[in-house]
Amino acid sequence: MNLNDVRKLLDAKICVGEEYLGRQVETCCGSDLMSDVLAFTKCKTLLCTGLANMQVIRTADMTDLCGVILVRGKLPGEDMLKEAAQNKLPIMSTEYTLFEACGILYSNGLRGCSRKAEEQAMSDSKSVKMHYDVAGDDFDRAGEASAGLKRLLQKIGVPADIIRRIAIGTYEAEMNVIIHAGGGQVDAEIFPEETVVYISDQGPGIPDIKLAMQEGWSTAPDHVRQMGFGAGMGLPNMMKCSDDFDIQSTVGSGTNIKMKFKHISEDL
Ligand SMILES: Nc1ncnc2c1ncn2[C@@H]1O[C@H](COP(=O)(O)OP(=O)(O)O)[C@@H](O)[C@H]1O
Ligand SMILES: [Mg+2]
Repeated sequence: MNLNDVRKLLDAKICVGEEYLGRQVETCCGSDLMSDVLAFTKCKTLLCTGLANMQVIRTADMTDLCGVILVRGKLPGEDMLKEAAQNKLPIMSTEYTLFEACGILYSNGLRGCSRKAEEQAMSDSKSVKMHYDVAGDDFDRAGEASAGLKRLLQKIGVPADIIRRIAIGTYEAEMNVIIHAGGGQVDAEIFPEETVVYISDQGPGIPDIKLAMQEGWSTAPDHVRQMGFGAGMGLPNMMKCSDDFDIQSTVGSGTNIKMKFKHISEDL
């Protein structure tokens, strides 16, 4: 779920950071003890807390929390609001207690950060799914979806050489969505034997896929080339990295890419 889903579930008021509500939440932690948060949280963790002081912002900064929910109707002070805005940290406030807020989020599928919770999640399902919304032309956040997928694959224990290929292929596709399509979606489903990645956008589409697949062919504008992209190697690289590559594109309605990666390591 993303922060906006959390907002709706907890009927929460946004105190700061409305622009980040699209952010994905992978796990949640309920605590007033910041040392526990420092010790046990993972990336993209949402913190629910009754503590409304600057240490919450500091802890969020150190551990890369994706957002903070203040429970029992607590509100952040001016100093917290200012610092949170600077740190791009969204803060919301809910009338629910810590127990209630965590219970609502848990019953809607959000899980904790303990090793036990991770093992449970893996054994409960035959596959693990991931979804990211990718914003167009946002080069500050470019690569977040691929990095998130890489972390997830590492957690699951996919061999390192396979993760490397998945990360490279997904990153190239994510960059294309950002550069050429004005944004889109990255979805992945990780099965025991293979990972399937879907990258879709509702952008301008590709008029001649055969031409676009040629190494060195690019329509990337100058400002993109100055950032080190636009060498026209992305699509051929996606094909090289994946075991199965499919691209469908319609001018005026968008592009869909599907890549399959078998978990057969060459390092073994
Ligand atoms: N998602 C997309 N939407 C529209 N056009 C795309 C998309 N992906 C690739 N293209 C087109 O295909 C060309 C080649 O893509 P790629 O091989 O990744 O090279 P590059 O991104 O460096 O230009 C791009 O320059 C662009 O014209
Ligand atoms: Mg590219």
